[in-house]
Amino acid sequence: MHAQVVIVGASGDLTTRKLVPALASLARSGRPKDGFSVVGVARSPKDDAAFRRELAEAMPADLAPAFAELAPRVHYVTADVSRPDTLAALRSRLDALGDSDTGRLVYLALKPELFARAVSALAGAGVVEMQTDGGAFRRIVIEKPFGHDLASARALNSELHALLSEHQIYRIDHYLGKETVQNVLGFRFHNAIFEPLWNRHHVECVQLTVAEEIGVEDGRAGYYDTTGALRDMLQNHMLQVLALVTMEPPASLEAEAIRDQKVNVLRALGTVDRVDVQRSTIRARYARGVSGGVEVPGYAEEDGVRAGSDTETYIALRASIENWRWSGVPFLLRHGKRLPKKLTEVKIQFRMPPVQLFNRPEGLSDTEFLRQLRAGNLCQVRPNVLTLSIQPREAIALSFGVKTPGSSMVMSPAELSFDYRDHFENKSADAYERLLLDALLGDPTLFLRSDEIEVAWSYTDRVRASWQEAKLPLLEYPAGTWGPPRAQDLFYGCEGGWSRG
Ligand code: BG6
Repeated sequence: MHAQVVIVGASGDLTTRKLVPALASLARSGRPKDGFSVVGVARSPKDDAAFRRELAEAMPADLAPAFAELAPRVHYVTADVSRPDTLAALRSRLDALGDSDTGRLVYLALKPELFARAVSALAGAGVVEMQTDGGAFRRIVIEKPFGHDLASARALNSELHALLSEHQIYRIDHYLGKETVQNVLGFRFHNAIFEPLWNRHHVECVQLTVAEEIGVEDGRAGYYDTTGALRDMLQNHMLQVLALVTMEPPASLEAEAIRDQKVNVLRALGTVDRVDVQRSTIRARYARGVSGGVEVPGYAEEDGVRAGSDTETYIALRASIENWRWSGVPFLLRHGKRLPKKLTEVKIQFRMPPVQLFNRPEGLSDTEFLRQLRAGNLCQVRPNVLTLSIQPREAIALSFGVKTPGSSMVMSPAELSFDYRDHFENKSADAYERLLLDALLGDPTLFLRSDEIEVAWSYTDRVRASWQEAKLPLLEYPAGTWGPPRAQDLFYGCEGGWSRG
């Protein structure tokens, strides 16, 4: 079935930066096989030729030929979703560009406060309509943030459900489109060797880092200042990665089987209570510092940040999952902007051997050996760590100890590693390309179901409430550093500390 991709809010930079390059790349590879056309919708008056020119100018060089092929199928309609009277023309143009078999994927690249109003106006104009069975498909893709807390996410879900069926709603989380994030499921459930170890009996702690070098430049501060690190990154991307790492095996790879298991594990996230909050969470924001060799302003000095702002750009959280598999295992989650580098990775740290047999210099009595160990004078046994590197490096590594050549049994750290780039010739497809393809094909696996969004907000709201109740202070860290040193304290009872990649 031929399809139309209708981008509502086509004048925003998401369209030029992500969506159209992803569509050009899809078209180049002939996917989906029946092809598609693109219709940009925005308020500014413009014709097809001007829209195509703008897109062509913004296209990365390697995609320019692909876009040139797609361009004749790219159109533009001037319309305003907050003025339903302008949408009749959109509907007529879409009808004229397709036929009764043409599927329609409407991508809302709009400000979040417009989502509900836009869907209602588009439904009112017949651009999308509720589908219970058959007919050319009508789907909408909704960008994040989907609500700003549980109440607003619920309200948005119910407004959408009054107009569309759940199967027509594709809530995007671009992390799920990343190849390495999808591989978490493949790695866990295709390889039998790790799964028996993947539980509280063998795992000492799990660490998830999403570090960014960027701050909130480029005019994003207005949005960010009302959002903060917890809601911008943890509620969605980080909880999604965590869910994939910790969920139970699904009965099949059907979308609902996977989403059911993700919801189940997210429901088991333990509450951070007021008493515990000081020991288990840190919130902070960057101060003036040096990033990438350049002096950069502190968060409070960024354009668009409100005077007296209390917004965090860094969080570290010791979370727990209260179920049979994970109870007692600390999940150390950390995200920050203006950290020294971009790094997204998961580290599964296994328990230490119960007895230290190695790295014992010859001639030491048992007592002296123990004394030296406790004093930290001897090289300790290190835990085995499995690292899933998500970006920018796309790799998997398992650390272990090997005997150092020589007459005594002294062990040294070593690593088994796999890197996507060395193994596969093609570079991973962009996340948006994969997600747009799935939405066109009607596969919702990598999109969020309504209950999944709600359970993630419910957890985030609980964390925020405990911060407020405990009046958790907002710490500062110089831009270009790894965040407040106090975040190290979250590792209490566990070996090691925060990764630096
Ligand atoms: C977005 C956040 O969802 O993800 C941004 O709003 C963040 O603040 C971005 O920078 C990170 O995405 P990626 O793919 O670069 O890790």
